[in-house]
Amino acid sequence: MEEKQLARRHRINRAEKETVSVPIHILLTQPVPTAIDASLAAKYVIHRLYEARDIDAFLTEVSGKIRAVVTGGAKGLSNELMDCLPALEIIAISGIGTDAVDLKRASARGIHVTTTPGVLTDDVADMALGLLIMALRGLATGDRIVRNGQWGKTAQPLASKVTGKRIGIVGLGRVGHAIAQRAKAFSMPVLYTDRQEQSGTGYTFIASLTELARQSDVLVLAASADDGQVIISADVLEALGPQGYFINVARGKLVDEPALVRALAGKTIAGAGLDVFADEPHVPPALYALENVVLQPHRASATEETRISMGEIVIENLDACFAGKRPPTSVNT
Ligand code: 8YV
Repeated sequence: MEEKQLARRHRINRAEKETVSVPIHILLTQPVPTAIDASLAAKYVIHRLYEARDIDAFLTEVSGKIRAVVTGGAKGLSNELMDCLPALEIIAISGIGTDAVDLKRASARGIHVTTTPGVLTDDVADMALGLLIMALRGLATGDRIVRNGQWGKTAQPLASKVTGKRIGIVGLGRVGHAIAQRAKAFSMPVLYTDRQEQSGTGYTFIASLTELARQSDVLVLAASADDGQVIISADVLEALGPQGYFINVARGKLVDEPALVRALAGKTIAGAGLDVFADEPHVPPALYALENVVLQPHRASATEETRISMGEIVIENLDACFAGKRPPTSVNT
C-alpha cells in the first residue's frame, strides 16, 4: 500500500475511533414505564435483573460492564450487589428513599447516588389521604359488601367521621407538608413531630412521638427511614389508643410490625391504612382477615404521570454522570 493511502486510512481509523462512543451498560433492578425504558434503550445498553432466570449466571455475564444501576427507593441496592459491580459510577434511585442503599459505601467508591425529589410528593400525600379516608370510612369493607351481594344482608358498622379529626404527622418534610395541606381542606387540626420545630407553619409541634400519638386521632407516618430505627413502637400504638388510626406511606421498617398486627387484631387501635411493610412483598397474613386495615402494595408514587417524571430525572442524572458532570439530584457527591 502506498504511503499516502496508509496515512489516509490511519486518519480515517482515528476519526472513527473518536466518533464511535463506547456503549454504556446499565442495570435495571425493576421495570420502568415503557416511555422511559425506550428513552434509556436509545442511549444505553440495558440489562434487566428482574428478568434474569439465573441471577448468578446473569451477573457473571454482565457485572464487569455495568456503570449504572437504576433502582427503586424500597429496592435500593444491596452491598453484595454493589460490591460485585467494579465499574459502577452511579446508583440512580427512582424514588426519594435512600435507606436501601449504603451511602457511605457508595461514597467511599465515588459512586453517585441520586433520587427523584419533588415529583412524587403530591402522589404520596394523595395516597396518605386516600388511605386515611378509606380506613376511617370503611370504604374497602363497603366495597366488599356490595361486590359479594351482601348489601342489606351484612350489617356494616357505622364509620368514623374524617372532617375535623386531629392529624398527627410524623416527619414534616415535603410529603408531610403536602399531607398537612390536604388535611387542612378537611378542617383537621395539624400536629406534627420532627427532629426540630419548624417556624411559621401554623401547625402544632410536639417533640415526643408518644405524646403526638396520644393527642392525635390519626397518626400518619411520613418520615425517612435513613436511621433504620423502629419508631412506631408498641408504646406509640398504645398511646394512639382504641379510637386512633395509623397510616403509613413511609417505610414498614419504621414500625414494630408484630405490635401493629396485635394492636389491630386486639382493637387496641381502631384501624390502619398501610402502603408499606417491613419485608415487602411479604404482608403479615394475620392482616388479611382484619376489616379494620386497608392494604396497598406500595403504590404511593405509582401513577403514570409521576413515574414518568421520576424516570426523566433518572435519565437526567445518568446523562450528566456520563457527560462527566455532577448528577443534578445527587445526594452524596
Ligand atoms: C416507590 C419509594 O414506590 O420514593 C420512594 O422511596 O419507595 C416509592 O416512591 C419506589 O421507589 C418505586 O420505585
